[in-house]
This record gives sequence, structure tokens and C-alpha cells, in this order.
Amino acid sequence: MSSDNACFNPIDNGVPRHIAIIMDGNGRWAQKRFMPRAVGHRAGVKAVRKIVEHCAKDGVEVLTLFAFSSENWRRPSEEVSLLMELFLSTLQGEINKLDKNNIRLRFIGDRSRFSESLQKKMLEGEAQTSANTALTLVIAVNYGGRWDLCQAFRTVNQKILAGELKAQDIDENLINRHLSTADLPEPDLFIRTGGEQRVSNFLLWQLAYSELYFTDTLWPDFDQKSLEEAILSFKGRQRRFGHTGEQVLGKAVTL
Ligand code: IPE
Ligand code: IPE
Ligand code: MG
Repeated sequence: MSSDNACFNPIDNGVPRHIAIIMDGNGRWAQKRFMPRAVGHRAGVKAVRKIVEHCAKDGVEVLTLFAFSSENWRRPSEEVSLLMELFLSTLQGEINKLDKNNIRLRFIGDRSRFSESLQKKMLEGEAQTSANTALTLVIAVNYGGRWDLCQAFRTVNQKILAGELKAQDIDENLINRHLSTADLPEPDLFIRTGGEQRVSNFLLWQLAYSELYFTDTLWPDFDQKSLEEAILSFKGRQRRFGHTGEQVLGKAVTL
């Protein structure tokens, strides 16, 4: 990811290369059905399977899913435990299928707070699928945009102290290269389900020029049609990256 790449991208009418999704609304989906929140989280996993499949079919290069934020530890401990168990069991069940479908699995976020078994499974999943060339599926777990910037700054500072870098070397490209998304293109399309219109500490730096799409659809109900609507909305946008509309269209500018 380089800021130069993000500078100018004449109208992009194609499918977004990178879609980043805040999968919100599992709890409300269950509550509407007078069921425990756990049922909503399980239904959310089913929606993930379908959306991954459709993104792979549509030729999306990278799909980043926000599964657990650095703030979600504030939830009741029973819900946190349930989410961790669901995460582990889903990984155990899905890694081989992802691999078979040529999908590369990646995790971003601070793993140090997870159980050893979960950390091991995450590493195994990444190693097993690392050479796959279809969709890259990035799962953001214990992820926070502020955490990502902090860890990047810490590494940069260590390199400065070790004499490998100078303070003057710090520019946007250097920071990009130290973020957990260093090797990925910037998200073209950001989707948040569940009706809230906020970023909730997701990819703060990386979303600088993403097209934002909010839908009231609760995550477990987000299906192929919902994804197609979001992509259609994206295709109708003019991405200007600071240029004028005329410049993007290659027309003469009249002042
Ligand atoms: C998103 O759904 C899943 C996680 C944050 C893990 P929520 O659990 O936030 O669902 P609502 O917002 O309470 O409906
Ligand atoms: C954002 O959803 C995090 C994930 C979907 C993993 P939240 O439900 O935690 O966000 P807030 O608390 O409503 O902002
Ligand atoms: Mg929520």
C-alpha cells in the first residue's frame, strides 16, 4: 500500500479490490427474535461464510472483516468467552475449506491477549493458506485503528534508536509500511451493517479515501443481494482523491 497509489485513480467502475466490513448487529438480530445474543453471533458466522464465497467469486482481492474490536473486551465476560469459543471452533472448521478454495487467511490485531490454543490455530491457519492466490481474507481480531498506529510508531521508534532510520525518514509511505496492513491495498469500499454510522476504531489510517457505505441490515441478514447493492453504490461513486470532477473525467477545466 503506498500513498502514491491512493493519490489518483481515475473513475474506477470495477469491483472494489479491497472491501472492509464492520459486521454489526448480531445481538439485535437475536434480540428481535427473543433469542440470546449467542444465537446472533452464530448466525453471524453463517453470513461470513456466504460473503467470503461471494467476494471470492466476484474477484475481490482483499476482504477485511472486523470480528472483535480492542474495545469489545468491555462486554460481559460470558459474551467475550462465547465469542472466543466461537472464533476457535470456526477456525477449526473452516481452515481446510478456505485452503481448498485457494483463499489466503490473515489476522490483524493484538494477539497477545488470546489463549495459547487460539494463537496457535491462527498461526496454523495463516501458514497453511499463505501461498493461496485467490481472495485474501483478513480477520481483524482484538484490532483497533489506534493500536495499529501505536504499534507502527513503536517499531519506527525502535528503528530510529537502533540507527536504522532517521526521524526525517518518517513520511506517509513509511508509516504505511509499518501498519498491520502494510502489504495490502487500501480499502476501496467500507461497509458497516447494523445501522450505526461510525468507524468504532476500525482501520483509521487506511480508510482515508475509502468509499463509505452504511446499511440498516443487521449482519446475519447481510447476503449476496446486500453485497451487490453495496458494490453497485460503490460503482456509482466518483473517486476524486482531491482532484476536480473534470480532471477525473479528463475534461478541459474552465475557470
Ligand atoms: C457485532 O455484533 C459482533 C461483534 C461486535 C463481536 P454486535 O454484537 O455488536 O451486535 P449489536 O450491535 O449488539 O446488535
Ligand atoms: C464494532 O462493533 C466492532 C465489531 C463489529 C467487531 P461494536 O458493536 O463493538 O461497535 P460500537 O460499540 O457500537 O461502536
Ligand atoms: Mg454492535
